[in-house]
Amino acid sequence: MKNINREELLSAAEIARRVKELAAEITAAYGGRRVLLVCVLKGAVVFASDLMRYLDLPVEIDFMAVSSYGSETATSGAVRILKDLDSSIQGKELLIVEDIVDTGLTLDYLCKNLLSRKPASLKVVTLLDKPARRKVEFIPDFCGFEIPDYFVVGYGLDYNQDYRQLPGIHILHPEKGELQPEG
Ligand code: IMP
Repeated sequence: MKNINREELLSAAEIARRVKELAAEITAAYGGRRVLLVCVLKGAVVFASDLMRYLDLPVEIDFMAVSSYGSETATSGAVRILKDLDSSIQGKELLIVEDIVDTGLTLDYLCKNLLSRKPASLKVVTLLDKPARRKVEFIPDFCGFEIPDYFVVGYGLDYNQDYRQLPGIHILHPEKGELQPEG
C-alpha cells in the first residue's frame, strides 16, 4: 500500500495512550459492574479490541452492522441495520463502541433503537469526534479525540474498504481517495 507514512493525524502511540486513558475512565464509571460492549462494524473493530483489553470490568461483546457511506464521503442520512445483536439486551448495561461520530445520524438512530429494547443503561464511547459536521445533536459519553473536518482512515476506518489496517489515523485527500501528499 502506498503513502502509508504521509499526513498522519494521530500516531499509533498517541492512540494507544489515549485508549488506555479512556479504558480507565470507563472502568471508573462502571464501578465493577458488567458491561456489554456493542461494537459497531466494521470501523470500530480495531478500537473495540484494544479498548476491551484495558477494561478492568466483567465485559461481554456483541456486534452490530449498520449501513453507512458505501463509496461516498458524505452521509445519506438513511440508517439501516445490516446485522443485529445476537441476544436480548434487556436489563444490561450497554456501551456502544464507535469509531467516529460525524453527522451524528448513525448514533442518534442506534441509541433510539437500542433504548427501545430496555437496557439498564446506555452509553457511547467513540475514538474520534468531528463535532463541526453534526446534523443532529449528539454528545458521546466518552471520546478519544475531537478532530477537525477531515476525512480520515486507518485504525479500523476505511475509504472504500481500504486503509483499515493502518496503525495510525491518516487524512485522506477527498477528491482522489488517496492519502494526503507530504508537505
Ligand atoms: P455519522 O452517522 O455521520 O455520524 O457517521 C458515522 C459513520 O460514518 C462512522 O461510523 C464511519 O463509518 C463513517 N465516517 C464518518 N466520518 C468518517 C471518516 O472521516 N472516515 C471514515 N469513515 C467515516
